[in-house]
Amino acid sequence: MNELLHFDSEKQEFSFNEDKLNNIDFRSLALGELFHANRSFAIIKGFLSKDVAIKIKNFYTNSQNKNIFVKASPEGNSRIFYYLNSPYVYPKFVVSLLKSCMFIKNKIYQYHDYYQYYCMIKNIDPKAFREVVDLQVLHSWQAVYWYRNSESHFKHIDNYGELACFLILSEKSKDYDEGGLKVYYEGSRGDIFLDDYYEYGDLVFLDQSQVYHEVLPVKHRENQVGRLSMYVPTIPPNYMKKTLFFEGFPLSPKSTTGNIPFLDRVCAIYTSLLKREQIHHSRVKFCHFDTVL
Ligand SMILES: [Fe+2]
Repeated sequence: MNELLHFDSEKQEFSFNEDKLNNIDFRSLALGELFHANRSFAIIKGFLSKDVAIKIKNFYTNSQNKNIFVKASPEGNSRIFYYLNSPYVYPKFVVSLLKSCMFIKNKIYQYHDYYQYYCMIKNIDPKAFREVVDLQVLHSWQAVYWYRNSESHFKHIDNYGELACFLILSEKSKDYDEGGLKVYYEGSRGDIFLDDYYEYGDLVFLDQSQVYHEVLPVKHRENQVGRLSMYVPTIPPNYMKKTLFFEGFPLSPKSTTGNIPFLDRVCAIYTSLLKREQIHHSRVKFCHFDTVL
């Protein structure tokens, strides 16, 4: 077993190889690579086995699940969104995988001031990585991003505190021929085409608030699926509304800060029904046809 995160297909759960986990120098990954001004990215090679990564690719692109993606803009990618703080029931392996990605991200994120302040304000031990995940999922979503022919993401920089993590589910030259993530650097460092650096099952971290980045238009042939990854951001707590509603659950508001007091809940439901607010496209029901990996 060479992968860091092992998949148990019977239980549909992921678990870490503890020996391998203990051998990773997260401090050096954080300070020497991810949060280093000349780099701003880090890659954990072999996070998942290639076989499992390809299975996940097929789960999304080679089953009826390919029909549940939504496209938010004509030029952008297609997405399936997950809110782990929602009334929806997702495939068990997806929840296990997303939480594992967030857990290992926190092992690196602990070396960033933002993470330490967050834990201080929330009054939680910064080393309680899994408990921090349980708080972060209250105000973070995750997604599967699928770029097909000509789809791209414009050049931008993200906000302080947002830290991206991508699970690689496709490979350049195998699943698509051109395009992918370009990271811009000032000075003589030279820009980087990050897709040249990783393979199926790698876990990639990008300090997206420090470097401009874009996804160049993807080109693939008919027999290729395009570019697929799981995107696991950590979203600062105040970016979303305090109360979220989900398609099909008008009476079940979810709080991005924890529990909603009874009166606030009644008030939120009343206001939402009165205004007939449109549900955001990320909070519609993504009803998976296949649920088992
Ligand atoms: Fe970004």
